[in-house]
Amino acid sequence: MTSLARHKQVFGHGAPLFYDEPIELVGGEGVWLFDSDGRRYLDAYNNVPCVGHANPRVVAAVSAQMATLQVHGRYVHGLVVDYAERLAALHAEPLSALVFACSGTEADEVAMTMARLATGNRGFITSEAAYHGNNTDVGRLNDIGGRVGAGKPVDPEVRGVPLPDGSRRFVDGVADAIRSLDEAGIGVAAVLMCSILANEGLPPLAAGEMAEVVELVHAAGGLMIADEVQAGFARSGCWWGYEYSGFEPDIAVMGKPMGAGIPFSGVVAAAELVERFRSSTRYFNTFAATPVQAAAGMAVIDVIEDEGLLDQIPRVGDHLAASLREMGVTDRLGEVRNVGLFVGADWLDHDGGPDGEGARAIVNAARQAGVLIGLDGPHGHVLKLRPPLVFSMADADHLLDVMSLVLAAAK
Ligand SMILES: Cc1ncc(COP(=O)(O)O)c(C=O)c1O
Repeated sequence: MTSLARHKQVFGHGAPLFYDEPIELVGGEGVWLFDSDGRRYLDAYNNVPCVGHANPRVVAAVSAQMATLQVHGRYVHGLVVDYAERLAALHAEPLSALVFACSGTEADEVAMTMARLATGNRGFITSEAAYHGNNTDVGRLNDIGGRVGAGKPVDPEVRGVPLPDGSRRFVDGVADAIRSLDEAGIGVAAVLMCSILANEGLPPLAAGEMAEVVELVHAAGGLMIADEVQAGFARSGCWWGYEYSGFEPDIAVMGKPMGAGIPFSGVVAAAELVERFRSSTRYFNTFAATPVQAAAGMAVIDVIEDEGLLDQIPRVGDHLAASLREMGVTDRLGEVRNVGLFVGADWLDHDGGPDGEGARAIVNAARQAGVLIGLDGPHGHVLKLRPPLVFSMADADHLLDVMSLVLAAAK
């Protein structure tokens, strides 16, 4: 039996696998992945190995720490404290205290609990097409299938806000949602949103719109939680997506790239919020706040800083987006948007509407051509290019060469 058949048997046929013809990977180096047939793929999808696959500095730091000590977080450890202080210092005031966890899901749920404790309210506001994690509490905020419409609760404590589309102001949807939660007597604990609306397909936010959202939610007695699981760690060309989008959250949630593949997530907030959370919950997470996580996290920050990625990311991202826009290979490639090295390109049907099926075919064709990309947005029609942060201009040009052929061949 092939590995694929055995995979399906042991994990169940519904277990998610990318591509019509799944790939069996055996190795990775930098922005390249290698399959079991010796074929290589340019990785324009993966954000967790943010500083490149098998980054030697991450490998060395994690291996050395693993060979010295790895233990749960109820001991004092200098490296863990050093890392926490260094990470907090990258954030805006007053975000200065941390809770560590292992996944974005866990960290988002910590943030939700913090917000409920701080405000005494129970309502949450999320955006259409959002994804924030797979647990019961945070899972209520997901809207992958477009279940949440303006003011239409899918959960008594959750309201969804339609995405901005040029004619519709995002902030008006937030105001409606706050009103609806107040009328229901629940009140708003927090707006929880990705700072750059990444999974949502990067719809354009008007300048100052997120800052207005913060003002509104504060006036209603709630907090602003920035989900930085996609947006954080320099993806936008700023350390944090909230800096890119011009707002100041009360709580920021980090994950995915934080440990370059070592499961690591965190919540940063003002010290009072963290103290209240600690004293009310006695939160403990076996694999969180460990020396190996800190070693990986330190190496990630080192590489981002030492390799000048904060400068490189917007240059490469803007080049990718501008070149795609100019390619003109087909009129079915609609708007192309980017936030640093996160590029979303709408794929349209012949009538100009979103074409999710066609976009899926393009992702499969790109895979066959040796380039890995993904899909995003409310209709699954947004081609998502979100490579490791170390993606260079030369990598971008290689990607563009392949994409121009793939797109030209799409009918
Ligand atoms: C914005 C956002 N928040 C939270 C999560 C959940 O993170 P995890 O899969 O680590 O639980 C994800 C995962 O894709 C995400 O994209």
